[in-house]
Amino acid sequence: MNKVLLLGGTGFVGRHVCEKLARLDWQITVPTRRTSQAQHLQHLPRLEVVAADVHDEAALAQLVRGHDAVVNLVAILHGTAAAFKRTHVELPAKLARACLANGVPRLVHVSALGAEPTAADTAPSLYLRSKSRGEAVLQAAARDGLQLTVLRPSVIFGAGDRFLNLFARLQRVFPVMPLAGAQARFQPVWVEDVAQAIVHCLRDPATIGQTYEACGPDIFTLKQLVQLAGRYSGLRHARPVIPLPMALGRLQAGLMEWLPGQPLMSRDNLDSLRIDNMASGRLPGLAALGITPAALGAIAPDYLGQNDRYVTLRGQYRRP
Ligand SMILES: NC(=O)c1ccc[n+]([C@@H]2O[C@H](COP(=O)([O-])OP(=O)(O)OC[C@H]3O[C@@H](n4cnc5c(N)ncnc54)[C@H](OP(=O)(O)O)[C@@H]3O)[C@@H](O)[C@H]2O)c1
Repeated sequence: MNKVLLLGGTGFVGRHVCEKLARLDWQITVPTRRTSQAQHLQHLPRLEVVAADVHDEAALAQLVRGHDAVVNLVAILHGTAAAFKRTHVELPAKLARACLANGVPRLVHVSALGAEPTAADTAPSLYLRSKSRGEAVLQAAARDGLQLTVLRPSVIFGAGDRFLNLFARLQRVFPVMPLAGAQARFQPVWVEDVAQAIVHCLRDPATIGQTYEACGPDIFTLKQLVQLAGRYSGLRHARPVIPLPMALGRLQAGLMEWLPGQPLMSRDNLDSLRIDNMASGRLPGLAALGITPAALGAIAPDYLGQNDRYVTLRGQYRRP
C-alpha cells in the first residue's frame, strides 16, 4: 500500500489523479481550504479530505508526515505579484523543507510549459516567472536530497476544463469573438494523460531528477482553438474570430480584471501568450513515460457537445 499527499487534489487535474490512484488502491490525503470543494472526491475509497492551510509550515509538516510521496498541484492563474510569489514560489519552498525534514523526500511537482528555472527574471508574465522561480527553488532542494520530478503541461483539456469550455460558452452568448494573441500556438494535452503521467512518475523511481514536457500530439493557434471550441460545442453558425492587437487586448483584459470574481482573461494571461506554448524538444515528453497522448479532436467533441458533462466514478458531475 502506498500513501500519497495531493496538494491541490480538489482541482481539475487533481480529481483525475485521485481517481487513478484510488483504482490502484493507494491511500490518498487531499488537503483543502474548504472541504465543500472536495465533495466530488468524498466517494473515492481510501481517500481522506483534510481542511488545512498548506501555507502554514507547521500544518504542512503535519500533513506530510506518514506519506510515501507528495504531489503539488497548487497554482493560481490570476492574482497580484505577491499572490503568485506566495503560491508558486514560497509554497514549493515550504513543501521542500517539510518533505526533507519529515523523511518524505519524494515530490512530483506540476509546473507549466514555458517555465524554466533560468527564466525566473525573463519569462513574459508573472505566472511564468513565478512558476520558473518555484522550479528553481525545488531544483536547489533536489541538490539537498529532494527526490524531485517536474512535469510541465501545455494547456490541459478535458471534461470540466476552463479553457475550451470558456470559449464554447462565450460563443453561445456573443456573435463575434474579439481575440488578442490569436496567433499564439499551443499543444493542448488531455487531462487523463497528465494524470497518467503523474501516476507513472509516482510509481517509477527512474523519473526522479527528470523534467518532462506534457504536450498533446497537435499544435493549434489560439484562434484555431476558439474556432474548434465553437464547432465541437455544436454551434450551427461559426462566430467570426477577430484578432485584436495586443494593446487593445490588454485594455479589454484590464476591464475584465475590474469585474467581480475571477477575470475571464487578465493582462498577465495575455503576457503569457507572448511566447508559444509548445514542446521545446529539449526535454523528454509523454512518450518517455509510455503514454501516447490523445488528440484534441478525439476527446473534445464528446464533452463540449454535451455542454460539458463530467463522468466520475460516482456518476455524473456537471460544472455549475
Ligand atoms: N489547467 C491547465 O490548463 C494547466 C496548464 C498548465 C499547467 N497547469 C498546472 O497544473 C496544476 C494543476 O492545475 P489545475 O488546472 O488542476 O488547477 P486548479 O483546478 O485551479 O486546482 C488547483 C488547486 O489548488 C488549490 N489552490 C488554489 N489556490 C490556492 C491557494 N492560494 N492556496 C492553497 N491552495 C490553493 C485549490 O484547492 P482548494 O480550493 O481545495 O484549496 C485547487 O483545487 C497547476 O500547477 C497548474 O499550474 C494547468
